[in-house]
Amino acid sequence: MNSGTGKTALITGASSGIGQELAKLFAQDGYNLVLVARSDDTLDRLSDVFKSNYGTQNVTIIKKDLSEEDAAQDVYDQVKAKNITVDVLVNDAGVGLYGLFATDTDWEREKAMIHLNVLALTQMTKLFLYDMLARNEGKILNLASLLSIAPSPLMAVYAGTKAYVYNFTQSLVNELKDTNVTVTALLPNATDTDFFNKAGAENTKVTDEVQDPVMVAKDGYDALMAGKPKVVPGGLKNKSYEVISYVAPQEAMAAVMRDKMSQKPEPDQKSSNVAWGIGFGVAVLAGFALVVAYNNTSEYDRARYRYKLKGLGDNLSDLISSAIDTVIDTYQNAKTKVEHVAAKETPEEVLEEIEA
Ligand SMILES: NC(=O)c1ccc[n+]([C@@H]2O[C@H](COP(=O)([O-])OP(=O)(O)OC[C@H]3O[C@@H](n4cnc5c(N)ncnc54)[C@H](OP(=O)(O)O)[C@@H]3O)[C@@H](O)[C@H]2O)c1
Repeated sequence: MNSGTGKTALITGASSGIGQELAKLFAQDGYNLVLVARSDDTLDRLSDVFKSNYGTQNVTIIKKDLSEEDAAQDVYDQVKAKNITVDVLVNDAGVGLYGLFATDTDWEREKAMIHLNVLALTQMTKLFLYDMLARNEGKILNLASLLSIAPSPLMAVYAGTKAYVYNFTQSLVNELKDTNVTVTALLPNATDTDFFNKAGAENTKVTDEVQDPVMVAKDGYDALMAGKPKVVPGGLKNKSYEVISYVAPQEAMAAVMRDKMSQKPEPDQKSSNVAWGIGFGVAVLAGFALVVAYNNTSEYDRARYRYKLKGLGDNLSDLISSAIDTVIDTYQNAKTKVEHVAAKETPEEVLEEIEA
């Protein structure tokens, strides 16, 4: 029997991107689903796919614009009216908005974004968490971002909303530590979904290094199931970004993030830059910004940064040894897989073994 059989997961933002991949994982694990978004036609199609592919028993579709006042209360009331117990809540729905805050971005869109990313997520958590605590059982996954821990010029309000989500979630982790209810923050780096198009940021440098939403959802799902307080998907590179965000001066991080969020160069300039590699360029920029900031700080701040850098060194060595462990595990798994495949006699058996 699958681990989710008989249980229900409610996922906001299930119609696309990371939310849709998360919904698929719950369906594969035998969960019944409550899917929330504005595109109910897409959710209906997903419901059919989950029922036929994974034998999902019950899928409830709630068409809702979560940027509207008290939308979360309405979702909760609809769930209660159907006598559904929500075992897992995933607050995935969210949008971004690109541009200079003072002159480019539209206040009505910003207000709706704050409502969706912050108010709806908080109210959903408040309503469903209360019931989970009464049962002393339940899990919540909140979509934060790597931008939660770095100032992000040109996405200033969006990054502010994600900083809220991360801080809020970590506070709840502490408040819930003596219960069987867990809350997890998922902090993806830029991910290959419709997010950047919708935010008007489709031409920014950061879109050249997007990661796979399937991998992001899987890392989030595993961390949620394990009851971890947070997860940064994407291995060593993204975990290094996380560590650097904690120890680098905020002005330096803002400069790095501004570069990543700036428009891509014109094609001819771009080709001459490609050899450098985006990741390397960002690393050089970060190093430069760090040196400039270091030289301009007081002796007291320098001592503080030296202390933090020592911590960074320790963290990096942990990260490197964990990466080595991962490589060894991956090699062992691949070796075992190849041995199993080699032992098969017919093409059908080989295919079955590869897909297993
Ligand atoms: N992609 C990234 O680079 C990235 C990185 C870090 C964190 N995140 C976070 O991950 C989450 C999912 O984003 P994604 O990348 O998967 O983007 P996406 O593909 O655009 O998905 C966004 C989801 O949110 C739903 N949504 C948007 N506005 C809504 C509203 N007003 N009411 C109800 N639902 C709404 C959308 O459904 P409808 O349009 O059908 O309503 C859709 O299902 C967001 O919270 C985002 O901030 C994304």
